[in-house]
Amino acid sequence: MKIIKAKDYDDMSKIAAQIIGAQITLKPDCVLGLATGSTPIGTYSMLADWCSKGYLDFASVTTFNLDEYLGLDPQHDQSYRHYMNSNLFNKINIKIENTNVPNGKAVDVDKECMAYENKIEGLDGITLQLLGIGNNGHIGFNEPDDSFSKSTHCVRLADNTIEANARFFDSIDMVPKKAITMGIGTIMKAKKAILIANGEGKREILKKSLFGPITPRVPASILQLHPDLTVITDNSL
Ligand code: GLP
Repeated sequence: MKIIKAKDYDDMSKIAAQIIGAQITLKPDCVLGLATGSTPIGTYSMLADWCSKGYLDFASVTTFNLDEYLGLDPQHDQSYRHYMNSNLFNKINIKIENTNVPNGKAVDVDKECMAYENKIEGLDGITLQLLGIGNNGHIGFNEPDDSFSKSTHCVRLADNTIEANARFFDSIDMVPKKAITMGIGTIMKAKKAILIANGEGKREILKKSLFGPITPRVPASILQLHPDLTVITDNSL
């Protein structure tokens, strides 16, 4: 594990964007795993800026997002598909058909999960996975549990996740209770992973995840076993 201490949020975002940019330059047809939440917004904004200036070319890149709320239409302004289109995809020269976000409106959710997992495997897996971390240590929407999940699946969101994400919705009752998420196994199979976390509020959970016992009660703790993990944070750990 490599830990990079960033000066602040912008510095963290720039370092993450530089690593992703370098990956795209090295392997223009790479498969990127992408995250949502407030943390990656700065990273996406830098990638979009560099693409608009002609420094980066997303024409052959494929992306897979970590997760999506179950029950939200892709057009819903809080769906992760909408978030990705507005924060990144609509601002870069990626082919929209090469961008993948689980379908939150899938009629057969198990089939959707299996198809998502198979599509990732069919492309020889994820080259570089960007991750944020939830306040309870979740990655993607893999909540604290009794065991580590393997592949893409449907989850019931933890109460503290619903509370944390209520800030994006009109009221807490509007927050979906379930989601589709890549599994811990899917994430761990990524060839490289970058974890970004900023602010004092993430310091304790980051310390617990990176230096505490590896346990499904702290899902991100499994990342200690990832062969190529880079953590970028403005926190002193
Ligand atoms: C969300 C997402 C995660 C994200 C996390 C942290 O629930 N499913 O992928 O990493 O919460 O969000 P934020 O960056 O807003 O703190």
